[in-house]
Formats: sequence, C-alpha cells, structure tokens
Amino acid sequence: MSGFQAVEWTGEALRLLDQRRLPTEEVYRVYADPEAVARAIEQMVVRGAPAIGVTAAYGVALAARRRVGADEEFRSAMGAVLERFARTRPTAVNLFWALDRMRRVIEGTPDPVRAAEALEAEARAIEAEDLAACRAMGRFGAELLPDPATVLTHCNAGALATAGYGTALGVIRAAAEAGKRVQVLADETRPFLQGARLTAWELQKDGIPVTLITDSMAGYRMRLGGVDAVVVGADRITRIGDVANKIGTYALAVLAREHGVPLYVAAPLSTVDFELSSGDEIPIEERDPTEVTHCGGARVAPEGVGVWNPAFDVTPAHLVTAIVTERGVARPPYTESLEAFRR
Ligand code: MRU
Repeated sequence: MSGFQAVEWTGEALRLLDQRRLPTEEVYRVYADPEAVARAIEQMVVRGAPAIGVTAAYGVALAARRRVGADEEFRSAMGAVLERFARTRPTAVNLFWALDRMRRVIEGTPDPVRAAEALEAEARAIEAEDLAACRAMGRFGAELLPDPATVLTHCNAGALATAGYGTALGVIRAAAEAGKRVQVLADETRPFLQGARLTAWELQKDGIPVTLITDSMAGYRMRLGGVDAVVVGADRITRIGDVANKIGTYALAVLAREHGVPLYVAAPLSTVDFELSSGDEIPIEERDPTEVTHCGGARVAPEGVGVWNPAFDVTPAHLVTAIVTERGVARPPYTESLEAFRR
C-alpha cells in the first residue's frame, strides 16, 4: 500500500507529510511544539477530516508532556490547548470528536504524569481506530461497485486524509484489491487542488488508473455516460444524512441525480454529528481569498477583486444514495440507519 504516512507519531514528536508541497516534493516535517501543530492544521500541511482529528489528538498529547506541573495548573493549561485546537478548522467534526476524547482523559486522570501517558495512548487509539474503520469501510463500499467500474471522486479522501487507506479512496482501493477493474476520474478540486495534487498522486502510487478532469468537466462526462458511481468523503454528516464535504460536492450530487449515477459517501461514524438535525447548522469554513485569486503561487485574478471562498458545501440527504461506514452501509432514511450504527 501507498508507501507514505501522512501523520506519524515517532514516540517523541509528530511527523507530518507536508501536503502543500505535493506532488512535486515529498517533504516530512517534525513537530514537538503543539502550537506549531495547530498552525500546521490551519495551513493545510495536514488536511482531511479524520487526519485532522488524529493530528489534533497527538498535538494535545505533545502539550501534556510539556505541562507536567501541579494538578490545577495542568488542567487549566490543557483546557487552553483544547480550545486552541478547536479553533483550527471549524467544519471537520472529527476534530471536535477527537478533542472530546482527549478532554475526557484529562478529566479522568488527575495526576499530570499519568495523564500525559494516557493522552498519548488515547491519541494512538484514535489513530488505530481510524485505520481499522477505513479498512472496514473499504470492504463494505467495494461491494457497491460493479466490475468494471468508473468512479468519479472529488477532493482527496485517501490515505493522505486519514490514518491510512482512506475513506472514498479506501472503497476504490478495496475494490481494486478484490480484483475489480476500477478506474478513477479525479476532479481537480478548485481552489486548493486536492484532486489534482493529492488524489492523482496517491492513486498513481498505488497503480490505480486515474484520469484528471477539471471540476467543470464532470457534467459533460456524466452526460456522455460510463460513470458508474460518484464516491466522496465527508467532513460532517448530520443525523438526518445531510453531508458537508469539499466545495463542489453539492454540484456533483445534483449532476449525479440528473444522470442516474449513485452518489456514495464514505465516512467513519466519527464524522456523524448526531447533535445536528439539519445541514444548515453545519459551520462552513471560509478560507483566505488568495486561494482563489492565485493558482500555484501565481495571480490569476485582478488585484482588489471581491472573493468568496467557502471551503465546503452541504449536500442534502435526498441526493445521497448511501453512506458507507465502518459498521455497514447506511441507506435512507438516515435518521434510522445511522442511529442503528451508533456505538
Ligand atoms: O479542506 P480539506 O482538504 O481538509 O477537505 C477535505 C475533504 O473535504 C474530504 O473530502 C473530507 O475531509 C474527507 S477526508 C477522508
């Protein structure tokens, strides 16, 4: 498999593959400072909802190693660390899910030395559970694909975006491993180009046939026929099955419905926000305008132009054919099927 690790705990520090430099350079950065880890999440050195959760968990573990002091002092310092990580990226609910797990460990372990050990163990568990969830999603999702299959995907929901193997790309990988002849159409995913830079790179490394298209080509490609499924990941799913994912997913979902193509969302249950009952309640991150005015560092729009740069959109549940989780494939009505999978 892949031959790279997006997020790796060395036992002393956190090693991240700098995804801003891909595909031209494979640069790993080592972090011992939790504030630098928080900035790495904000600046998209690491990205993808599950990988953000795993990274933040290790960031908290790093902070705990440094803050071994009196009990009260330790707790309030760790509270500030949790708040700092919660401010990094607002949409990916895996971040808040991971921080909640870390918070429970802090609350349940009064001794700071023992808490530091327990936090490291919890971060390792979050990472291991995510990898296992990706493999399970792969097995369930692969069964949904025909043989041969042409799958259209958006953004990067691969090993780069998780503890390994991937969610949407995990489904594709598992189908290929099961002997299905799968080829992928990868949307370039403007403005940050996760499809062109990351998905194309990741699939090429695995020897899975991939064809890159710009986002605006997806509709015509579906109209010509031969797209068997759209498979994407998610940043947050409400209890009724509304899905927040990379900007452009909603447009793909509308196109898929128009052309009779199933839309499958692959996501671990840590991506389901059971507190929310409507996609309208999901906070949508807006990012720096330069992501839109510039491409590969070069300006492509006039100075001073107004820019709107939402990083995610929301696809309503009625456009989602199925949600692939580590517990099985949820079908509408999602309020019931997702609830049944809840731990
Ligand atoms: O802004 P990004 O690159 O973090 O957005 C990533 C996505 O939208 C992914 O599809 C989602 O996080 C799922 S990753 C398994």
